[in-house]
Amino acid sequence: MKRTLGVCYYPEHWPEDQWAKDAARMVETGLAWVRIGEFGWARMEPAPGHFTWDWLDRAIDVLGSAGLKIILGTPTATPPRWMLDKHPEMLAVDAMGRPRKFGSRRHYDFSYLPYRDECRRIARIMGARYGKNPHIAAWQIDNEYDCHDTTLSYSAAARAGFQDWLAQTYQSTDALNRAWGNVFWSMEYDSFDQIDLPNLTVTEPNHPHQLAFRRYSSDQVVAFNKVQAEELRRHTDAPLIHNYMGRITSFDHWKVGADLDIASWDSYPIGFLSDRLEGTPAFKQAFLRQGHPDMQAFHHDLYRAVGKGRLWVMEQQPGPVNWAPYNPAPLPGMARLWAWEAFAHGAETVCYFRWRQAPFAQEQMHAGLLRPDSAPAPALAEARQVADEIAALPDVGTARADAALIFDYDSAWAWDAQPQGKDFEMFRLAFAAYGALRRAGLNVDILPPDTADLQGYKLVLAPGILRLSDTLRAALARFDGIALLGPRTDTKTEELSIPTPMGPDLPDLDITVALTESMPPDDAIPLANGGQFLHWFEHLEGGAEVLEQTASGLPAIMGGPHLRYLAGWPDPATFDRIIRDVATAQGLGVHDLPDGLRIRDTATHRFVFNYAPHPLTWNGTQIPPAGVHWEDR
Ligand code: GAL
Repeated sequence: MKRTLGVCYYPEHWPEDQWAKDAARMVETGLAWVRIGEFGWARMEPAPGHFTWDWLDRAIDVLGSAGLKIILGTPTATPPRWMLDKHPEMLAVDAMGRPRKFGSRRHYDFSYLPYRDECRRIARIMGARYGKNPHIAAWQIDNEYDCHDTTLSYSAAARAGFQDWLAQTYQSTDALNRAWGNVFWSMEYDSFDQIDLPNLTVTEPNHPHQLAFRRYSSDQVVAFNKVQAEELRRHTDAPLIHNYMGRITSFDHWKVGADLDIASWDSYPIGFLSDRLEGTPAFKQAFLRQGHPDMQAFHHDLYRAVGKGRLWVMEQQPGPVNWAPYNPAPLPGMARLWAWEAFAHGAETVCYFRWRQAPFAQEQMHAGLLRPDSAPAPALAEARQVADEIAALPDVGTARADAALIFDYDSAWAWDAQPQGKDFEMFRLAFAAYGALRRAGLNVDILPPDTADLQGYKLVLAPGILRLSDTLRAALARFDGIALLGPRTDTKTEELSIPTPMGPDLPDLDITVALTESMPPDDAIPLANGGQFLHWFEHLEGGAEVLEQTASGLPAIMGGPHLRYLAGWPDPATFDRIIRDVATAQGLGVHDLPDGLRIRDTATHRFVFNYAPHPLTWNGTQIPPAGVHWEDR
């Protein structure tokens, strides 16, 4: 398969006589795909039941006839103003009880079923009209679930839906009271309609109450997406896609992904570094114009799995964005590097966001491939270069990985409800583990928590998993590589209480987490072999062998030849040492990559990326900042 490039385009933003010129220029740049439609509802249906498809018909015809394949978006992230008159209850409500009003986007509540029906209706009508159109080669459903924190809503609809979900899940309030431990503080309920949403309580709501609400809310996203997927499938064989985001854990992407054909995501490396990632000031300064060297790779690997092997980047940052606290321009070459990195991680297609910078409205300061006056912006030449390189290179394929990381959304909700230490967060812990694997130069697969087969992997990490599923526990029991579990893995029940006997429950291993400590950022637990744990430390007991100790003689790692439990959250250098030890024991060649240099093996090539702001050397080859180097494997 040849990798392809594309771009996001809004025909409704530009005079119609511009469309053909734009399409010709896209083709001339080497772009194969164009994504349209996802915010166009008000122009498709300006009044309830009154449709104006003519402009979209012509846009599809113009773009398609120019040779572009079209990704058509359902416009359900931007319901028109009349929708609110028709459904005044459709708005989401924030945790303080305030409605989230019209005037931007994503002004809807996943729990409000009449709006879900409106989305079913528009998906059905669009599917019927365009499902067989030869130019429509893929569909995007909605846009970026949870963007602007929109998964959780504390509305009347959410309350009613949650009560119904609880009744179905627990069957009786007795069962729910027992499961949640509601005898504590006299929190017992006699009927499901007494159970409110877990906001505006005097002090923290009960953890399983919060966790249940997170599970319920995720299920609404899954159901919302599924409704549209079902409607579209009746009319089209083209792949159905959603564009996920970076560092979003509020809904179960594995479950949404099960109803779709391809997982795509929106990659804004510089915005993420500024807005969404931890890092010292020096680190953020060094990577200011390139982004975090592991953030993109993590999400490529995660979403490749969510997409059951099929990954796209639906939106790729081309220049400064408008939404981060600070918005510097990428280093020259980064718009090319990010695309090649995505391909090396298995992406079939990378679409830049957007074709031309809009001179109006909220995103007028967000760069595109063209400036508002249609002159080329810096990323246009880089996109063209990537297109030329794709044409010249045989396909790169996707290689399997030696290392795997288990990633679980349910655990993310559990630890949000009960962080226990202010800086304990699922993504952060998983990303720390992933970073250590990457710095060792390993290819990584990210796997779901119900993974049944680990054969073929040499090394598996499963940090922070609330409770091991029976399938995963069985797979671990059979695993003949080295699995490093913990910290905080399998230490709770599904209802977020402490099991007795206390966890973890690991096959043939006697290990108990007897006491848990969280620590402020400037405190640490030093280890006897050097290095330290930060944030989190569990006191382990049991008959299993102690493989490593803290400086004060407490177990730091316990276990056997295949399964081991890590008692704390290692700092980066310590994580590197631990990963190197187990990888080397497994016969894997590990690297000691300089800051900012990353490698990724494909079926045919080894790719080397320089995220650093200065040149770095790989095997005698000097790679400039933002440089991409590939060699045959
Ligand atoms: C994404 C979104 C796009 C656009 C872009 C700007 O989150 O899907 O519509 O807003 O960000 O960076």
